[in-house]
Amino acid sequence: ENIRVAVFVGSLRAESYNRRLALALARLAPETFTFEHVAIGDIPLYNQDRDVNPPEAMTRLKHEVESAQALLFVTPEYNRGIPGVLKNALDTASRPWGKNSFAGKPAGVVGISVGAIGTALAQHQLRNVLAYLDVPTLGQPEVYLQFSEGLLDDAGNIYKDDTRRFLQGWVDAYVAWVRRFVAAS
Ligand code: FNR
Repeated sequence: ENIRVAVFVGSLRAESYNRRLALALARLAPETFTFEHVAIGDIPLYNQDRDVNPPEAMTRLKHEVESAQALLFVTPEYNRGIPGVLKNALDTASRPWGKNSFAGKPAGVVGISVGAIGTALAQHQLRNVLAYLDVPTLGQPEVYLQFSEGLLDDAGNIYKDDTRRFLQGWVDAYVAWVRRFVAAS
């Protein structure tokens, strides 16, 4: 088994809690899963006029998505929605029409924020977009984490036992979900 996961972190911030969460999840997965972070900060704002002559970053993004067997979205909530940088990446790799790079790839959606509802609204907005993009997304369990000091470090260590157990349960369900689709293909 050799499963490549394209990881989308919805924050560009150097100290991003969501990036830490993405690293922590990767450490809880089997070694046969490789997590590759997709750079989304350098993708030009999507412009349909460029579909005929796409920017290099669009071609690179589409290739990274297409060469992965699965997707992982780890996103903050910005003003009760998904960050624009993430929506831009989704729009870009979904085009040109008929060449949606995401179609059929199994996905997981999680997030962490400083707010008490832990990215719930952003995640559900993202789920709407993924449904349209024909991305089968793990429904349960859900991960709505609230950040607290000392929870996660930038090496992906989780310092609270109950959080680590909870996230291990999520990773186990995600791995099983992805395997269903990879086995079928
Ligand atoms: C936020 N934050 C935030 N938090 C939340 O729970 N719900 C929200 O709607 C918002 N809105 C929001 C908008 C903008 C523009 C910013 C910059 C921030 C706070 C957010 O949870 C916090 O900044 C996190 O640290 C962002 O995640 P990263 O960058 O640490 O991954």
